Amino acid sequence: GATVEYQFDVATMNVTRLCSSKSIVTVNGQFPGPTVFAREGDLVVVRVVNKAQYNMSIHWHGVRQLRSGWADGPAYITQCPIQPGQSYVYKYTISGQRGTLWWHAHISWLRATVYGPIVILPKLGVPYPFAAPDKEVPVIFGEWWKADTEAVISQAMQTGGGPNVSDAFTINGLPGPLYNCSAKDTFKLKVKPGKTYMLRIINAALNDELFFSVAGHQLTIVDVDAVYVKPVTVDTLLITPGQTSNVLLTAKPSYPGATYYMLAAPYSTAASGTFDNTTVAGILEYEDPTSSNPSAAFNKNLPLFRPTLPKINDTSFVSNFTAKLRSLASEEYPAQVPQEVDRRFFFTVGLGTHPCAVNGTCQGPNNNSRFAAAVNNVSFVLPSTALLQSHFTGMSRGVYSSNFPVVPATPFNYTGTPPNNTNVSNGTRLVVLSYGTAVELVMQGTSILTAESHPFHLHGFNFFVVGQGFGNFDPAKDPAKYNLVDPVERNTVGVPAAGWVAIRFRADNPGVWFMHCHLEVHVSWGLKMAWLVQDGSLPDQKLLPPPSDLPKC
Ligand code: C2O
Repeated sequence: GATVEYQFDVATMNVTRLCSSKSIVTVNGQFPGPTVFAREGDLVVVRVVNKAQYNMSIHWHGVRQLRSGWADGPAYITQCPIQPGQSYVYKYTISGQRGTLWWHAHISWLRATVYGPIVILPKLGVPYPFAAPDKEVPVIFGEWWKADTEAVISQAMQTGGGPNVSDAFTINGLPGPLYNCSAKDTFKLKVKPGKTYMLRIINAALNDELFFSVAGHQLTIVDVDAVYVKPVTVDTLLITPGQTSNVLLTAKPSYPGATYYMLAAPYSTAASGTFDNTTVAGILEYEDPTSSNPSAAFNKNLPLFRPTLPKINDTSFVSNFTAKLRSLASEEYPAQVPQEVDRRFFFTVGLGTHPCAVNGTCQGPNNNSRFAAAVNNVSFVLPSTALLQSHFTGMSRGVYSSNFPVVPATPFNYTGTPPNNTNVSNGTRLVVLSYGTAVELVMQGTSILTAESHPFHLHGFNFFVVGQGFGNFDPAKDPAKYNLVDPVERNTVGVPAAGWVAIRFRADNPGVWFMHCHLEVHVSWGLKMAWLVQDGSLPDQKLLPPPSDLPKC
């Protein structure tokens, strides 16, 4: 492969959206940030220079980072933050992946504005396993607050309540015409009749899973999370924060004399008011072949069509949609699903509470507690130094313990009436896996406080989604229904609201790997944990040593 090099200057800049200006942190003066282009097999080198007044770290979401865990990016997991005035060079090889991934800040809520696409083309001369599109266009969903997002989350953490919800969703940074004062900030996709467009879709929103649809046009999904799938054609796509998908859209064969909205709006079963339920619109606009000035086309009072999205809490749409996704599982792109399992884990994932220090002073549930969230009742606490460094130098004492619970200490009816005591415990506890372990993990959503879908993201690996269902997982019956032939392979999966999902992966990447809900408010409340994968015995099964410029805490 070749070497592709980038410099990311992280700095603040003033941006106006919804008629209100604020200073945001962003990269190279662009919002959304620059696109990283690479081919499968390339070495990517990104020098990040922190010129902002915040600690920074950048995560290359979905990049497998084989043996290069030092470049993964989550603050206090694989590295200490890059402090203001400092820089760090991220170096990693993209191997065995092609499609769309993305990069984002991985510290506090700074990813609200610090994000951009990673476009991975196949190796030179290797075609897509589908007809090549005429054009490729990134479509990134984001979430916009008029307020400073760092202030939003620190206020929520201080009061113990939920954070203020965002003011708008965005497509490529633009809220679009359905918001006040925003019509001029609208994403427009100009198309020519008969041509095929590949939308490289990324959900970079902080707290919302999204439905996406384009009026009058279908979408053919050809990959998810940079892994090819059997093509499936849909009217509406569901995409959780963290997920990416390439979809083909073919323009109508002749000039239709109309324009079409593309809309994205949330899927959520949480109480209304706890998430942003607004809608972002972009415009699909045909270039009029008869007009000498194609950009005038939209101004001719053409009829405008808008798509119908599923209801906000349409869980059955979501489960039907996810059931349609299958690995390509071809000779060229096999699905390497572990058929045998070495270790099984059962994790409950959901919300909970912490007691309030002084009764009645917290804005959490019942005004008498603070919101929290936990995996197997452990609300994960980030250490003050990086876990990977502590592990590598053998200085883990006092930083983390290796006793993360493999099953819940106290089983309960996960999707029924919650236990009276909803308090969770704090801890920095890891699961230790020996190199090459075939892991099966069942994640069980709980109904504590609310039953909602949690998009779980695993760093350092792709996993296969071998099963999912509603209610409580039944170890006697459900495994018989697993798909071990062509399950979808990805890095982020929605644990169904009041349901469960089973995934399998092989722990063939030594290092410390974060796993967390990709709803940022839940991360702040502790819905996260980490796996420590030990070195294997062969030389190419060992974590490489840290780069000399690795930031210090
Ligand atoms: Cu996209 Cu740990 O994050």
